[in-house]
Amino acid sequence: MAKDDESRISIPKHIAIIMDGNGRWAKKRMLPRVAGHVRGVKRVKEIVEHCANIGVDYLTLFAFGRENWQRPEEEVSFLMKLLYEQLEKEFTKLHEQGVKIRFIGDKTRLSSKINSKIFELEQLTLNNSRLHLNVALDYSGMYDITQAINKLLVEKVTHVTESDFEKYLLTYPDPHPDLLIRTSGEARMSNFMLWQIAYSECYFTSVFWPDFKTHELDVAIKWFNTRERRYGKISEQL
Ligand code: FPP
Repeated sequence: MAKDDESRISIPKHIAIIMDGNGRWAKKRMLPRVAGHVRGVKRVKEIVEHCANIGVDYLTLFAFGRENWQRPEEEVSFLMKLLYEQLEKEFTKLHEQGVKIRFIGDKTRLSSKINSKIFELEQLTLNNSRLHLNVALDYSGMYDITQAINKLLVEKVTHVTESDFEKYLLTYPDPHPDLLIRTSGEARMSNFMLWQIAYSECYFTSVFWPDFKTHELDVAIKWFNTRERRYGKISEQL
Protein backbone atom coordinates (compact mmCIF):
# COMPACT_ATOMS: atom_id res chain seq x y z
CA MET A 1 0.00 0.00 0.00
CA ALA A 2 1.41 3.43 -0.93
CA LYS A 3 2.37 5.66 2.01
CA ASP A 4 -0.22 8.36 1.12
CA ASP A 5 -2.94 5.70 0.91
CA GLU A 6 -2.01 4.38 4.35
CA SER A 7 -2.76 7.68 6.01
CA ARG A 8 -6.23 8.00 4.44
CA ILE A 9 -7.36 4.43 4.63
CA SER A 10 -8.80 2.77 7.66
CA ILE A 11 -7.25 -0.60 8.27
CA PRO A 12 -9.68 -3.30 9.41
CA LYS A 13 -8.89 -4.37 12.94
CA HIS A 14 -9.62 -8.02 12.21
CA ILE A 15 -9.33 -9.69 8.79
CA ALA A 16 -10.41 -13.30 8.24
CA ILE A 17 -9.48 -15.17 5.07
CA ILE A 18 -10.80 -18.32 3.43
CA MET A 19 -7.74 -19.20 1.36
CA ASP A 20 -9.23 -21.08 -1.57
CA GLY A 21 -8.17 -22.14 -5.05
CA ASN A 22 -4.81 -23.83 -4.51
CA GLY A 23 -5.90 -26.92 -6.42
CA ARG A 24 -7.35 -25.01 -9.36
CA TRP A 25 -4.28 -22.78 -9.52
CA ALA A 26 -2.14 -25.90 -9.91
CA LYS A 27 -4.52 -27.57 -12.37
CA LYS A 28 -4.46 -24.52 -14.62
CA ARG A 29 -0.68 -24.94 -14.82
CA MET A 30 -0.88 -28.73 -15.29
CA LEU A 31 0.83 -29.18 -11.92
CA PRO A 32 -0.19 -31.58 -9.16
CA ARG A 33 -2.66 -30.06 -6.66
CA VAL A 34 -0.05 -30.09 -3.93
CA ALA A 35 2.04 -27.59 -5.90
CA GLY A 36 -0.79 -25.13 -5.28
CA HIS A 37 -0.56 -25.72 -1.53
CA VAL A 38 3.20 -25.11 -1.60
CA ARG A 39 2.67 -21.80 -3.39
CA GLY A 40 -0.21 -21.08 -0.99
CA VAL A 41 2.17 -21.30 1.97
CA LYS A 42 4.38 -18.65 0.37
CA ARG A 43 1.38 -16.32 0.22
CA VAL A 44 0.46 -17.05 3.83
CA LYS A 45 3.87 -15.82 4.95
CA GLU A 46 3.67 -12.67 2.81
CA ILE A 47 0.15 -11.84 3.97
CA VAL A 48 1.01 -12.36 7.65
CA GLU A 49 4.02 -10.06 7.33
CA HIS A 50 2.04 -7.47 5.38
CA CYS A 51 -0.79 -7.45 7.93
CA ALA A 52 1.71 -6.91 10.74
CA ASN A 53 3.32 -4.05 8.77
CA ILE A 54 0.14 -2.18 7.90
CA GLY A 55 -1.33 -2.42 11.40
CA VAL A 56 -3.95 -5.16 11.19
CA ASP A 57 -4.40 -6.33 14.79
CA TYR A 58 -6.05 -9.70 14.19
CA LEU A 59 -5.76 -12.08 11.27
CA THR A 60 -7.63 -15.38 11.10
CA LEU A 61 -6.68 -17.83 8.36
CA PHE A 62 -8.74 -20.89 7.42
CA ALA A 63 -5.92 -23.37 6.85
CA PHE A 64 -7.71 -26.71 7.17
CA GLY A 65 -11.41 -27.26 7.68
CA ARG A 66 -13.00 -30.18 9.49
CA GLU A 67 -14.51 -31.28 6.17
CA ASN A 68 -11.08 -31.29 4.52
CA TRP A 69 -10.28 -34.61 6.22
CA GLN A 70 -12.47 -36.15 3.50
CA ARG A 71 -9.93 -35.31 0.78
CA PRO A 72 -7.81 -38.08 -0.76
CA GLU A 73 -5.49 -39.50 1.87
CA GLU A 74 -2.34 -38.47 -0.06
CA GLU A 75 -3.45 -34.84 -0.16
CA VAL A 76 -4.30 -34.78 3.55
CA SER A 77 -0.96 -36.31 4.50
CA PHE A 78 0.87 -33.91 2.20
CA LEU A 79 -0.88 -30.97 3.88
CA MET A 80 -0.03 -32.29 7.34
CA LYS A 81 3.60 -32.76 6.36
CA LEU A 82 3.70 -29.27 4.88
CA LEU A 83 2.14 -27.88 8.02
CA TYR A 84 4.67 -29.56 10.29
CA GLU A 85 7.59 -28.37 8.14
CA GLN A 86 6.29 -24.81 8.27
CA LEU A 87 5.75 -24.94 12.01
CA GLU A 88 9.39 -25.97 12.43
CA LYS A 89 10.76 -23.52 9.88
CA GLU A 90 8.78 -20.44 10.89
CA PHE A 91 8.91 -21.09 14.61
CA THR A 92 11.34 -18.37 15.62
CA LYS A 93 10.54 -16.05 12.72
CA LEU A 94 6.94 -15.59 13.80
CA HIS A 95 8.11 -14.84 17.32
CA GLU A 96 10.66 -12.32 16.06
CA GLN A 97 7.93 -10.63 14.03
CA GLY A 98 5.95 -10.09 17.23
CA VAL A 99 3.15 -12.41 16.15
CA LYS A 100 1.00 -14.05 18.78
CA ILE A 101 -0.19 -17.28 17.23
CA ARG A 102 -3.13 -19.40 18.26
CA PHE A 103 -4.54 -22.50 16.58
CA ILE A 104 -8.30 -22.81 16.70
CA GLY A 105 -10.23 -25.97 15.88
CA ASP A 106 -10.97 -29.43 17.19
CA LYS A 107 -7.37 -30.64 16.82
CA THR A 108 -8.10 -34.12 18.26
CA ARG A 109 -7.42 -35.67 14.86
CA LEU A 110 -4.08 -33.93 14.43
CA SER A 111 -0.99 -36.00 15.20
CA SER A 112 0.59 -35.66 18.62
CA LYS A 113 3.73 -34.37 16.87
CA ILE A 114 1.75 -31.50 15.33
CA ASN A 115 -0.20 -30.85 18.51
CA SER A 116 2.93 -30.52 20.59
CA LYS A 117 4.56 -28.16 18.05
CA ILE A 118 1.41 -26.06 18.04
CA PHE A 119 1.39 -25.91 21.82
CA GLU A 120 5.08 -24.93 21.92
CA LEU A 121 4.54 -22.17 19.39
CA GLU A 122 1.49 -20.83 21.23
CA GLN A 123 3.48 -20.74 24.46
CA LEU A 124 6.49 -19.09 22.85
CA THR A 125 4.44 -16.29 21.32
CA LEU A 126 1.96 -15.89 24.17
CA ASN A 127 3.08 -12.41 25.19
CA ASN A 128 3.44 -10.96 21.68
CA SER A 129 0.94 -8.37 20.57
CA ARG A 130 1.97 -6.89 17.21
CA LEU A 131 -0.37 -9.20 15.30
CA HIS A 132 -2.76 -11.79 16.73
CA LEU A 133 -2.78 -14.64 14.25
CA ASN A 134 -5.44 -17.34 14.50
CA VAL A 135 -4.84 -20.38 12.35
CA ALA A 136 -8.04 -22.36 11.93
CA LEU A 137 -7.02 -25.98 11.80
CA ASP A 138 -9.47 -28.87 11.91
CA TYR A 139 -11.91 -26.01 12.35
CA SER A 140 -15.62 -25.78 11.70
CA GLY A 141 -17.95 -22.96 12.67
CA MET A 142 -20.59 -25.47 13.81
CA TYR A 143 -17.99 -27.21 15.96
CA ASP A 144 -17.02 -23.85 17.46
CA ILE A 145 -20.63 -23.18 18.48
CA THR A 146 -21.35 -26.69 19.79
CA GLN A 147 -18.14 -26.92 21.81
CA ALA A 148 -19.19 -23.61 23.43
CA ILE A 149 -22.63 -25.07 24.24
CA ASN A 150 -21.05 -28.18 25.70
CA LYS A 151 -18.82 -26.12 27.98
CA LEU A 152 -21.90 -24.24 29.17
CA LEU A 153 -23.73 -27.51 29.83
CA VAL A 154 -20.84 -28.73 31.95
CA GLU A 155 -21.18 -25.55 33.97
CA LYS A 156 -24.91 -26.28 34.28
CA VAL A 157 -25.75 -22.82 32.96
CA THR A 158 -29.47 -22.34 32.31
CA HIS A 159 -29.47 -18.94 30.62
CA VAL A 160 -26.87 -17.01 28.63
CA THR A 161 -26.70 -13.66 26.93
CA GLU A 162 -24.92 -13.30 23.59
CA SER A 163 -21.93 -11.73 25.28
CA ASP A 164 -21.74 -14.54 27.87
CA PHE A 165 -21.90 -17.09 25.06
CA GLU A 166 -19.09 -15.48 23.09
CA LYS A 167 -16.69 -16.09 25.92
CA TYR A 168 -16.83 -19.80 25.13
CA LEU A 169 -16.05 -19.50 21.43
CA LEU A 170 -12.61 -20.51 20.23
CA THR A 171 -11.87 -17.00 18.99
CA TYR A 172 -12.55 -15.30 22.34
CA PRO A 173 -11.48 -12.60 23.28
CA ASP A 174 -10.78 -11.39 19.75
CA PRO A 175 -13.19 -8.90 18.17
CA HIS A 176 -15.30 -10.16 15.29
CA PRO A 177 -13.77 -9.91 11.81
CA ASP A 178 -14.43 -6.58 10.11
CA LEU A 179 -13.46 -7.93 6.72
CA LEU A 180 -13.89 -11.49 5.50
CA ILE A 181 -12.10 -12.40 2.29
CA ARG A 182 -12.67 -15.50 0.17
CA THR A 183 -10.46 -16.14 -2.81
CA SER A 184 -11.03 -18.26 -5.94
CA GLY A 185 -14.48 -17.07 -7.01
CA GLU A 186 -16.51 -19.16 -4.58
CA ALA A 187 -19.11 -17.24 -2.60
CA ARG A 188 -19.88 -19.40 0.41
CA MET A 189 -18.77 -19.58 4.02
CA SER A 190 -17.86 -23.27 4.10
CA ASN A 191 -18.55 -23.59 7.80
CA PHE A 192 -16.11 -20.85 8.80
CA MET A 193 -16.67 -18.56 11.83
CA LEU A 194 -20.46 -18.69 11.53
CA TRP A 195 -21.18 -16.67 14.66
CA GLN A 196 -18.30 -14.23 14.39
CA ILE A 197 -19.02 -13.03 10.84
CA ALA A 198 -22.50 -11.73 11.70
CA TYR A 199 -21.50 -8.20 10.66
CA SER A 200 -18.34 -8.75 8.62
CA GLU A 201 -18.02 -7.13 5.23
CA CYS A 202 -17.52 -10.01 2.79
CA TYR A 203 -15.14 -9.61 -0.13
CA PHE A 204 -15.11 -12.25 -2.83
CA THR A 205 -12.40 -12.27 -5.45
CA SER A 206 -11.80 -14.63 -8.35
CA VAL A 207 -8.05 -14.58 -7.68
CA PHE A 208 -6.77 -18.01 -6.59
CA TRP A 209 -5.03 -18.04 -3.22
CA PRO A 210 -1.56 -18.75 -4.69
CA ASP A 211 -1.92 -15.51 -6.69
CA PHE A 212 -3.18 -13.48 -3.74
CA LYS A 213 -0.19 -11.17 -3.31
CA THR A 214 -0.03 -8.28 -0.87
CA HIS A 215 -1.39 -5.94 -3.55
CA GLU A 216 -4.59 -8.04 -3.64
CA LEU A 217 -5.01 -7.53 0.08
CA ASP A 218 -4.60 -3.79 -0.39
CA VAL A 219 -7.35 -3.90 -3.05
CA ALA A 220 -9.63 -5.71 -0.59
CA ILE A 221 -8.89 -3.15 2.12
CA LYS A 222 -9.67 -0.29 -0.28
CA TRP A 223 -12.97 -1.99 -1.13
CA PHE A 224 -13.66 -2.33 2.61
CA ASN A 225 -13.20 1.43 2.90
CA THR A 226 -16.03 1.99 0.42
CA ARG A 227 -18.51 0.09 2.59
CA GLU A 228 -20.92 1.82 4.89
CA ARG A 229 -21.29 -0.27 8.03
CA ARG A 230 -24.78 0.42 9.24
CA TYR A 231 -25.36 -2.45 11.70
CA GLY A 232 -29.07 -2.31 11.05
CA LYS A 233 -29.38 1.49 11.17
CA ILE A 234 -29.92 3.86 8.24
CA SER A 235 -27.24 6.13 6.73
CA GLU A 236 -28.63 9.27 8.34
CA GLN A 237 -28.17 7.82 11.79
CA LEU A 238 -24.46 7.22 11.39
C1 FPP B 1 -7.96 -24.39 -0.54
O1 FPP B 1 -7.57 -24.73 -1.83
C2 FPP B 1 -6.91 -24.55 0.36
C3 FPP B 1 -6.82 -25.44 1.40
C4 FPP B 1 -7.81 -26.47 1.73
C5 FPP B 1 -5.71 -25.41 2.27
C6 FPP B 1 -5.14 -24.05 2.45
C7 FPP B 1 -3.78 -24.27 2.84
C8 FPP B 1 -2.75 -23.46 2.64
C9 FPP B 1 -2.82 -22.13 2.04
C10 FPP B 1 -1.45 -23.94 3.05
C11 FPP B 1 -1.19 -23.76 4.50
C12 FPP B 1 -1.90 -24.72 5.31
C13 FPP B 1 -1.50 -25.94 5.66
C14 FPP B 1 -2.46 -26.85 6.34
C15 FPP B 1 -0.14 -26.44 5.35
P1 FPP B 1 -8.25 -25.99 -2.47
O2 FPP B 1 -7.30 -27.13 -2.33
O3 FPP B 1 -9.59 -26.19 -1.88
O4 FPP B 1 -8.34 -25.51 -3.94
P2 FPP B 1 -9.49 -25.88 -5.00
O5 FPP B 1 -10.77 -25.36 -4.43
O6 FPP B 1 -9.05 -25.15 -6.23
O7 FPP B 1 -9.47 -27.36 -5.15
